[in-house]
Amino acid sequence: MEVIIRPNADAVAQLVARLIAKELRANPHLVLGLATGRTMESVYRILARLHKEKQLDFSLCRTFNLDEYVGLSGDNPHSYRYYMDKRLFSQVNIDKRNTHLPNGMAPDLDGECREYEAKIKRAGGIDLQLLGIGKAGHIGFNEPLSALRSRTRVKALTPATIEQNAAIFEDVGRAPRRAITMGVGTILECRRCLLMATGVSKADIVAKAVEGPITSMISATALQLHAHCTVVVDEAAASKLNATDYYRWIFQNEPEWEEFRAQD
Ligand code: GLP
Repeated sequence: MEVIIRPNADAVAQLVARLIAKELRANPHLVLGLATGRTMESVYRILARLHKEKQLDFSLCRTFNLDEYVGLSGDNPHSYRYYMDKRLFSQVNIDKRNTHLPNGMAPDLDGECREYEAKIKRAGGIDLQLLGIGKAGHIGFNEPLSALRSRTRVKALTPATIEQNAAIFEDVGRAPRRAITMGVGTILECRRCLLMATGVSKADIVAKAVEGPITSMISATALQLHAHCTVVVDEAAASKLNATDYYRWIFQNEPEWEEFRAQD
């Protein structure tokens, strides 16, 4: 794992968007794993701008999202399909047929999960997976006790997650209670993971995810097993980490980060 600390949420989104753009320019056939949530919104805004102003080309790119609510169709404004269409897919020149999310309305949900795994495999696996982190440490919707080798499946959401997401639904009673999510094992097979977190409300969980012991209670800790995982946080989200001197040293000195230092 490597941890990159940026001064604020804007700088985090800038760096993450630039990393994605760099990988996409190097490989136009990139298989990109995508995530939803408030943290990602600014990344998608910047990617849309890079497409319009710097000709960032998505025409050959394929995408797989981490998760989708069970029981919501793609035209429901609360679904993750709707979120992605609105914030990214309709803003860039991606072929909609190359964009994939699990179908939360599938009559056979287990079959849908197996098919999702098969589609990822047929695409040659995910090159770069973007990740946010829930306040209790989930990646995707891998709630506490998600097996570290789990695959795409239906997961019951915790009351805390339902509550957190309820703000966007009219009332908590209408918020979905289950979701289809890539498993921790699915995520660990991606070639590179990019986890981003901003704000003081994520400080505790970022410290646990990065510097705490690996446990299925906090699925983000499994990323410590990944050979190429970059965690990008702002000062607020980094405020409970211990080894920040070392993380800052890496960013200031390693040649890999030179072009990204220039944005400061
Ligand atoms: C949801 C999503 C996660 C996301 C998390 C954090 O639970 N399933 O993929 O990481 O929200 O969202 P936010 O960025 O809004 O804090």
